Amino acid sequence: ALITLRQLLDHAAEHGYGVPAFNINNMEQGLAIMSAARACDAPVILQASRGARKYAGDIMLRHMVEALAAMYPDNPVVLHQDHGNNDATCLSAIRHGFTSVMMDGSLMEDMKTPAAYDYNVAITARVTTAAHAVGASVEGELGVLGSLETGEAAAEDGSGAEGKLSHDQLLTDPEQAVDFVMRTKCDALAIACGTSHGAYKFTRQPDGEILSMETIRRINEKLPNTHLVMHGSSSVPQYLQDLINQYGGHMPQTWGVPVEEIEKGIAMGVRKVNIDTDCRMAMTGRMRKVAQEKPEEFDPRKFMIPAMEELETLCRDRFDRFGTAGQA
Ligand code: G3H
Ligand code: 13P
Ligand code: NA
Ligand code: ZN
Repeated sequence: ALITLRQLLDHAAEHGYGVPAFNINNMEQGLAIMSAARACDAPVILQASRGARKYAGDIMLRHMVEALAAMYPDNPVVLHQDHGNNDATCLSAIRHGFTSVMMDGSLMEDMKTPAAYDYNVAITARVTTAAHAVGASVEGELGVLGSLETGEAAAEDGSGAEGKLSHDQLLTDPEQAVDFVMRTKCDALAIACGTSHGAYKFTRQPDGEILSMETIRRINEKLPNTHLVMHGSSSVPQYLQDLINQYGGHMPQTWGVPVEEIEKGIAMGVRKVNIDTDCRMAMTGRMRKVAQEKPEEFDPRKFMIPAMEELETLCRDRFDRFGTAGQA
């Protein structure tokens, strides 16, 4: 059944676990994620970006997710708009069956002006009022994560987002988070705590603490009823870089967020963990392998079946390690 983000994350907070939010664009991703959820007895967050809605179409996405929920009746599903950019995006998502929306009003915040903050508060409060009136949940965002905001992290040469912004610009201010939630009434809050979007997060093996546990801890302590969200949480695992590069890909060496760091973040209060890049890499790696090992193959199912297997393996690992397993 479809449930709201508020319903799921209230349960996660009560029981101290995190929930991966996997991006979906097509049926194969949906089937692989749900199959992993069944194997782990886990609740699921499926999120669609604006790009995903354009790719699949709203009618297709809605019916696809309803079909997945019907096929997997024991796994509660949240259908969430990822990075909604304005009221129209969020409200049209709700009209198409989404039970939760992200209103990302933070896109001007790298300028660090009062006007950018006021804009974020106003648009997020407006969307929350409308969403709550029809029973949908809202995720807001405060802070600058890099890549989506700066467009710089996913550089072709594999250089990461570090160094482009000063350290405190990459971290959400806890006092401002309290003001933001009080004024917007959002259910969940995406915070900047050291991650960035895309495959090219860090230019060397992260040693020691790469997330600001202190930022997470302080915001969680001040906002016990608001669920913290960590974007840019792909681990960009070496085995998937190797898989892609072994079969004709050219991904420059890069490092993501180690799963152990995410586990610590969950212990500090993170409840929703956004993952897209890892899922893309899992599917693409296995499709490349088939293409290279069986050049005579032209049945797309022969590419998709191993791709789904690899994605399912990845999802099972995250459900297990985030404590989502057994919580359906
Ligand atoms: O944060 C963005 C997600 O990875 C979705 O990416 O806009 O290319 O679908 P997309
Ligand atoms: P990754 O690029 O690290 O997978 O992050 C995805 C994300 O934050 C979607 O909102
Ligand atoms: Na931001
Ligand atoms: Zn994101």
